[in-house]
Formats: sequence, C-alpha cells, structure tokens
Amino acid sequence: MDSLPFVEDVQLSEHRKARILAFAASARSDSFNKKLVRIALRGCENSGATVTYVDLRDYPLPLYDGDDEAANGLPENVEKLRVFFRECDGLLLASPEYNGFLPPLLKNTLDWLSRSPEAQPDLSAFSGKVAVIMAASPGPLGGLRGLRGVRELLTNLGFTVLPSQITVRSAFKEFDETGEMVDAARAKQVEALGAELAETAAKLLV
Ligand SMILES: Cc1cc2nc3c(=O)[nH]c(=O)nc-3n(C[C@H](O)[C@H](O)[C@H](O)COP(=O)(O)O)c2cc1C
Repeated sequence: MDSLPFVEDVQLSEHRKARILAFAASARSDSFNKKLVRIALRGCENSGATVTYVDLRDYPLPLYDGDDEAANGLPENVEKLRVFFRECDGLLLASPEYNGFLPPLLKNTLDWLSRSPEAQPDLSAFSGKVAVIMAASPGPLGGLRGLRGVRELLTNLGFTVLPSQITVRSAFKEFDETGEMVDAARAKQVEALGAELAETAAKLLV
C-alpha cells in the first residue's frame, strides 16, 4: 500500500514563504542603521523568508501638510512605498534616535502611509503584521530611548511588535568598512533576531 504523506507535511509544503520588508529610518548613505538592518535581514533570508530592502533615500517625501494633501493628494512615493508595506507579512526596522526620540523621517513616512487617496485614515497596510525593531547609535545608549517611541508608533498603526529588540551603542567601532559587524558573535545575535521575525511571521501565515 502506498504511504500517504502526513497531513502536517502537506500543510507545511503548501505554506508560502513569509515576506519581510526592511528599512532603516535614516537616509544617510553611511547609516549605521542601514548596516544593522541588512545584517538582520540576512537572518530573515536564512530562515527562508522572502526579503525586500528599501532605502528611504530613494523615496523622499515632503513634510506632511493637510493643505498639500487636500490640494495635491498623496505623493507618488507614498503609493510606491505602500505597495511594499501591503506585500509584506513582517517589518524589520532599525531606527536612530534623535534627542532621545524617534526621527522625523520615520514619523513623516508612516504618517503619509497612514492616509488613503481620499484623504482618510488607512492603516490597512500595517494592521495584523509583526515587526522587529532595532537601533544603532554612536552614543552610549545605542538609541534605546528612541525605540520606546518607535514601538508605540508601530503598535498604534496596528503592528504587533515583538518583545525582543537589539541596540548597538558606540556604533562607529562596531561596523567595519564593508558594513559587517566587527564582532561576529554580535552579528549572529542580530541575524537571530531577523530569524525570529521571519519565523514568527511564517507562523502567522494562513
Ligand atoms: C538631530 C540629531 C539628534 C540626535 N540625537 C541623538 C540622541 O539623542 N541619542 C543618540 O544616541 N544619538 C543622537 N544623534 C546621533 C545619531 O545617533 C547619529 O547621527 C546616527 O549616526 C544616526 O543614525 P544613522 O547612522 O543610521 O544615520 C542625533 C543626531 C542628530 C542629527
């Protein structure tokens, strides 16, 4: 008699891969946070996720202004970025802190993305998705203070932000000229956090 596959095997093989969107809340070309997010993204990829990295420098947006929105609608870059958010299951974000709080680039980008073409609130690209947050900073706290606001903002938008997070202090000595972490064990921790996001997002796929 032919052996039948276990039901669990069939279900697993039918699961699609989790899709992870990653970006840093910094436009700076030599951004520590861009380096950090790319290392974590490798962990997502190694866990079988499909990954998309976005550089916000490629999607500049004006400062949100209700009159501008009423007169001109949403900037083209909002719709471009919205596609990335819609098509992801999980978000990987590394954000610097500015004066102990989240940077305006992150708030402004997410504010625009929370609006519909009809100038109404629209959180559908965010809700029900998981996120992991990280921070890197040349300072002694590694951007830890900013992550409190990042966590709250993402939660308000509908993300479930995983409890695990990573901060990298004294970032100027943590990355080499290729963007890798000097301490391989530390890089493994960052990759493991990316893997945790990918695995959690995969578990939530229906
Ligand atoms: C306006 C401003 C405020 C800053 N405030 C802080 C701060 O509160 N804590 C901190 O650790 N670094 C602070 N920094 C330094 C940033 O962490 C540093 O510029 C970092 O490299 C930015 O991240 P990036 O490398 O990803 O661009 C500040 C930088 C700017 C421009």
